[in-house]
Amino acid sequence: MDDRATARAADGLDGAAPPPDVDLGTPSIARLYDYVLGGKEHFEVDRRAADALYEAVPETSQLAKDNRNHLRRAVQWLVREAGIRQIVDLGSGLPTVGNVHELAQAVDPGVHVVYVDNDPLVLAHGRALLSDETTTTVITADVREPETIFADPRTAELIDLQQPYAVIAASILHHLDDDVAYDVAARIRAQLHSGCYVLISNFLDDDEPRAKELERAFLEGGLGTGRFRTWAEQRRFYDGLEMVEPGLVYANDWKPDHLTPTESRVHTLYAAGVARKP
Ligand SMILES: C[S@@+](CC[C@H](N)C(=O)[O-])C[C@H]1O[C@@H](n2cnc3c(N)ncnc32)[C@H](O)[C@@H]1O
Repeated sequence: MDDRATARAADGLDGAAPPPDVDLGTPSIARLYDYVLGGKEHFEVDRRAADALYEAVPETSQLAKDNRNHLRRAVQWLVREAGIRQIVDLGSGLPTVGNVHELAQAVDPGVHVVYVDNDPLVLAHGRALLSDETTTTVITADVREPETIFADPRTAELIDLQQPYAVIAASILHHLDDDVAYDVAARIRAQLHSGCYVLISNFLDDDEPRAKELERAFLEGGLGTGRFRTWAEQRRFYDGLEMVEPGLVYANDWKPDHLTPTESRVHTLYAAGVARKP
């Protein structure tokens, strides 16, 4: 059996061949994240990279769940309370429980969503999930070039950039090096006009040893990215924007509801915020 056939058999891709540009020899952020969230779209190489994370912090899956939980509340708030009807989700990840378009369209079916990711599997699964592309689409692009994404005709088909919109950068900036992450955040802010929002979440270095240990496991355990940033470092992402209450906080402390974990053992390892361009 060749590698792809082995992967199909072992990884339960329902008999479907992975797209030819899927690299089975290198861990992928999207697939590893799917694995720690309990999904099905991952390969041995991703699980091995995840093992390094579990060794450093056994509650690593909870970190991903806390992030998804914040994303759920923040998207619902953006649509319900801030009146947002257009969303560009950068580094959107593989489809999972509670996708952004489902959350937003549960509040208003007319919300338009453009998903952006650079992982070929995200495009393949996104296309399969989205039977109706009149409100939602997925495009392959690099978030390190935000201007290209906003200038893309496929974005323009769904997002009227003259009207308010929200940009989501959840759990993506920590996969970029410091200088690149600050630069990308600044270039995203430059795209926003008054009344637009940005949602950001990032691993947090709150001066506890687990942050350093997990960062080392991300950087040296196969994935090669995953920066834990201090509060001060993360505040830079929101430069010149108005923070929505309660500001930049532990992810679970952002407008918690009855579904928010109250006893997460990784509470202090994730920060999140939502901000508005004044
Ligand atoms: C950890 S997942 C986060 C998924 C989702 N945003 C969430 O918070 O649940 C990060 C995603 O960013 C994507 N990604 C990483 N680097 C990227 C880049 N330079 N351009 C576009 N997507 C990227 C990965 O493929 C992955 O799907």
